Amino acid sequence: MKTASQPTSMGATRPGRPSLDLKKIREDFPILGRTARGKPLVYLDNAATSQKPQAVIDAMSHYYSSFNANVHRGVHQLSEEATKAYEGTRDKIREHINARDRKEIIFVRGTTEATNLVAQTYGRKNVAEGDEVIITTMEHHSNIVPWQILCEEKKATLRVVPITDEGELILEEYEKMLGPKTRLVSVVHVSNSLGTINPARKIVELAHRQGIPVLLDGAQALPHFRVDVQDLDCDFYAFSGHKMFGPTGIGILYGKLSLLEEMPPYQTGGDMIKSVTFEKTLYNELPYRFEAGTPIIAGVVGLGAAVDYLRGLDPDAVVAHEQDLLRYATREVSAVPGVRLVGTAKEKGSVLSMLMEGVHPHDIGTILDHEGIAIRAGHHCTQPLMQRFGVDATARASFAFYNTREEVDALVAGLHKVAKVFG
Ligand code: ALA
Repeated sequence: MKTASQPTSMGATRPGRPSLDLKKIREDFPILGRTARGKPLVYLDNAATSQKPQAVIDAMSHYYSSFNANVHRGVHQLSEEATKAYEGTRDKIREHINARDRKEIIFVRGTTEATNLVAQTYGRKNVAEGDEVIITTMEHHSNIVPWQILCEEKKATLRVVPITDEGELILEEYEKMLGPKTRLVSVVHVSNSLGTINPARKIVELAHRQGIPVLLDGAQALPHFRVDVQDLDCDFYAFSGHKMFGPTGIGILYGKLSLLEEMPPYQTGGDMIKSVTFEKTLYNELPYRFEAGTPIIAGVVGLGAAVDYLRGLDPDAVVAHEQDLLRYATREVSAVPGVRLVGTAKEKGSVLSMLMEGVHPHDIGTILDHEGIAIRAGHHCTQPLMQRFGVDATARASFAFYNTREEVDALVAGLHKVAKVFG
């Protein structure tokens, strides 16, 4: 129950807790001021894609209006400026995730391309008949299918770590699976469907004890908390720009230099070569070896602006605010008649997957949409996970730092409406 004495998150300050200036933050995101279906937009589909601050939109527009040119190729001023901005983002990312070397930062289209890159290069080189690759029940399709294809091709086995009813990994089972046949472990850091934050450091440590490399899918981590790849000691880390307030079409594969150096190229063509004759091609050095063709330069520039924006926020305040939203929403949503939450791990990011008795998740999504509330209804690209819970879909609300308790209230009111319509 919200009482008058309980501060709302809109500009809320709580003694002893870091806080965000939500009013100002929301003004930075122009889209948050619009309406949807004639109602103020309540955007709770951040796990699908986040909204963009004006600074990101401006940076991309500035690139096209002021220094649009190809990178790494021209001797002219425009190309020099474009290259500087492009490579500048690489430095920002390196610093943001605390990678040792800028060569460890590869620009890709997104998390999906990052996992495909590792499967098709590291995987094809190192996985052979009889070997095993380990993933978990809560993986996104983009961290299942690339390994399935690889394992089929190589006659290797894909092993899947089970989860509890709360949506937590069963670590003892994981530990038992690790062995001399394991070539790689690929695990989601934060589940897009359940919100579970996996014990990434522990997962890496257990694999490393047996010399097995680990890829972490961090698509749902970077938008919510700081990630330090050296601290995690992971071998690969994949994430997408568009979920962390940057543009679509750009993402990052971080890889330890020693591994990247040994990996064959992924896509081939311009920029990834040192020299080409019809007899032989010599490949370029890292990171360019994995960046064939003209990249999405505006996207890279926009991602740089997104990182600048994120670094301007107090990370502790972001976590505190999102955890407050999650706790509040969990309590209020659970109190709606017929609602059950899927994914109740102790360590959770700001995701609420819901089921309502007798109501299909798509109907929940449609009725909320009429209230101007955007959520996602479906399998969230995690069909095996849905099967684990015996459902084909959930209705998922996912929060970002710019969301407010008032928006949670709107969601809860919308859910009451759903309950009434179907009641
Ligand atoms: N993987 C994104 C989601 O969870 C698209 O919605």
